[in-house]
Amino acid sequence: MKRRSFLPQHRSGRWRIKLLLMVLLLFSCFCLLLLNHYSFSRVFEHSAAEAPPVVDTQKPKIAFLFIARNRLPLEFVWDAFFQAEKEGKFSIFVHSRPGFILNEATTRSAYFYNRQVNNSIQVEWGEASMIEAERILLRNAIKDSFNERFLFLSDSCIPLYNFSYIYKYIMSTTTSFIDSFADTKEGRYNPRMNPVIPVYNWRKGSQWVVLTRKHAQVMINDDAVLPEFEKHCRRKSLPEFWRDHPFPADPSKEHNCIPDEHYVQTLIAQKGLEGEITRRALTHTLWDLSSSKDRQRRGWHPVTYKLSDATPKLINDIKGIDNIYYETEYRREWCRSQGMPSKCFLFARKFTRAAVMGLLNSSVLIIN
Ligand SMILES: *[C@@H]1O[C@H](CO)[C@@H](O)[C@H](O)[C@H]1NC(C)=O
Ligand SMILES: *[C@@H]1O[C@H](CO)[C@@H](O)[C@H](O)[C@H]1NC(C)=O
Ligand SMILES: *[C@@H]1O[C@H](CO)[C@@H](O)[C@H](O)[C@H]1NC(C)=O
Repeated sequence: MKRRSFLPQHRSGRWRIKLLLMVLLLFSCFCLLLLNHYSFSRVFEHSAAEAPPVVDTQKPKIAFLFIARNRLPLEFVWDAFFQAEKEGKFSIFVHSRPGFILNEATTRSAYFYNRQVNNSIQVEWGEASMIEAERILLRNAIKDSFNERFLFLSDSCIPLYNFSYIYKYIMSTTTSFIDSFADTKEGRYNPRMNPVIPVYNWRKGSQWVVLTRKHAQVMINDDAVLPEFEKHCRRKSLPEFWRDHPFPADPSKEHNCIPDEHYVQTLIAQKGLEGEITRRALTHTLWDLSSSKDRQRRGWHPVTYKLSDATPKLINDIKGIDNIYYETEYRREWCRSQGMPSKCFLFARKFTRAAVMGLLNSSVLIIN
């Protein structure tokens, strides 16, 4: 009995399993079909009704921060320069006099339309207001989270290379580019800054620096160093201004401090961030040390290249520089980029409009 009853039971068990499997198979087929239909219709609906999904391909940008008096006399060279960059890896901000608007009437380059910051201030050359103008530019530019480098330019600066070369050069390091050297020249450090700014943190350099986002934020947030500069870093009055200012008792003892030539450098030293900078500038400036006969003025003015000075040789000489000597530190900086010896300068100043037109004409300046 046991055996007889066992077999049919066994058979019916198998049959049940078969049935179960078939049902399962049918069910999964049905599910697959349903799924297919559902996803197909979704894709269809998607492409028909919605815009294609936005792929986040925005690349890091360099913010070009121009400090101008009014118009940008060299806008045409920058226009040619930006035209070569199609991926939007830059943004432009201009600090000009309050109320000045960049539009069809004031610039011939559409890249600059409405790029003025709307909270600009009156800048006195060589005064602390210059630093404030830089901070205004940074505050505007840092709002765009894709801006990863902040490059200060004057209205007489020109690029020496094309965009892709400059972009790669600047982005290939995580450092800021700040020329910074110990400043031992008597009279420039005002002991009244002590102890907020001790003399061992006193630095000199140029204002035409490239900052990382971190260092831009440090400069925006600074509420300790700048007030000291406003109080104690003043430029020596030049003889021609003595009529407008009280005559100094002894001009040689007067402090001669140009705020924007010390500020970023000293701030970075104060914050202990000098390990995060490449200690050189990317903008070439020639200082007029010899031609002035007036001792008071000596070393004061950067040379402005006019049409007759701006020869292809001049540009090639500047582009050929591969090291810089820092006299006060007996230090020679050999320029490097991406681990290789490289050219030092990507930009140069100061050029007149006519000079730059001549250079573009002579095709020594290939920037696009
Ligand atoms: C200045 O620009 C900012 C945006 O960048 C805007 O929010 C603000 O309203 C503007 N101010 C004026 C006075 O136009
Ligand atoms: C940009 O300039 C560099 C150096 O002069 C050159 O090697 C490169 O081919 C140029 N790139 C473009 C896209 O013009
Ligand atoms: C540019 O070159 C053309 C001829 O090649 C010449 O007529 C013109 O005067 C030049 N312009 C400048 C600003 O040098």
